[in-house]
Amino acid sequence: MVDDEKDKHKEILKNISLKIEDGKFIAITGPNGGGKSTLAKVIAGIEKPTKGKIIYNGTDITEASITDRARMGISYAFQQPVRFKGIQVKNLIKLAAGDNMSIAGACDILSEVGLCARDYINREVDASLSGGELKRIEIATIIARGTKTCVFDEPEAGIDLWSFKNLIKVFEKMHNEKDSSIIIISHQERILNIADEIVVIAGGEIKDKGKKTDILPELLQGTGGCKFNCD
Ligand SMILES: Nc1ncnc2c1ncn2[C@@H]1O[C@H](COP(=O)(O)OP(=O)(O)OP(=O)(O)O)[C@@H](O)[C@H]1O
Ligand SMILES: [Mg+2]
Repeated sequence: MVDDEKDKHKEILKNISLKIEDGKFIAITGPNGGGKSTLAKVIAGIEKPTKGKIIYNGTDITEASITDRARMGISYAFQQPVRFKGIQVKNLIKLAAGDNMSIAGACDILSEVGLCARDYINREVDASLSGGELKRIEIATIIARGTKTCVFDEPEAGIDLWSFKNLIKVFEKMHNEKDSSIIIISHQERILNIADEIVVIAGGEIKDKGKKTDILPELLQGTGGCKFNCD
């Protein structure tokens, strides 16, 4: 349930029960307004559930703050990233890394997300960045953090087709090298295709979950009508 000034106590998520194993790559998909971002925000601590528990590595984090969860190893990349006027890209990446990351290290990460470091390292993370540039910089901060659990909310949104292929490589690398659990909310078949498991959320509920080999064919043969039994 989420509070909002206009829409007090609107129930968004219902009976969500989801276990994410260490080192797994999970893709969450489903129709617009289904509750995917809300679930991501509940995991990150941005929204608080009214019922139920969130257990992370055996610890109940339901009441833990966003900061505590971030320190425990949860990273979240917003569907619509936040802009930070007055902070340069290099300092945001260094801040995310949380240690003495060198400028060269920050440049390497920018290159990984397809941005020419020379052009971006001194830019401010303000309104002058395009949507796709901002999205990539946010992904760079998640790479810099190198946490065990990374939640990406529609990372492909606004990313051009050429870079999209490289972005997929970034996720695969993160998954293989760091053994991170990666949760990606996506509508893109190519991202669903690299996941170990796909979770379909609609009407605030998990409508389907399982191996991609079981779920993807069913999703792709949709006829365009609503195949989910939403309320
Ligand atoms: N703070 C809020 N107050 C009221 N309604 C909200 C709030 N946050 C989300 N909602 C509503 O909850 C529903 C789920 O929203 P959510 O952003 O989780 O969907 P989504 O699955 O991420 O959709 P999309 O694919 O469009 O990103 C939507 O109907 C949305 O309008
Ligand atoms: Mg969303």
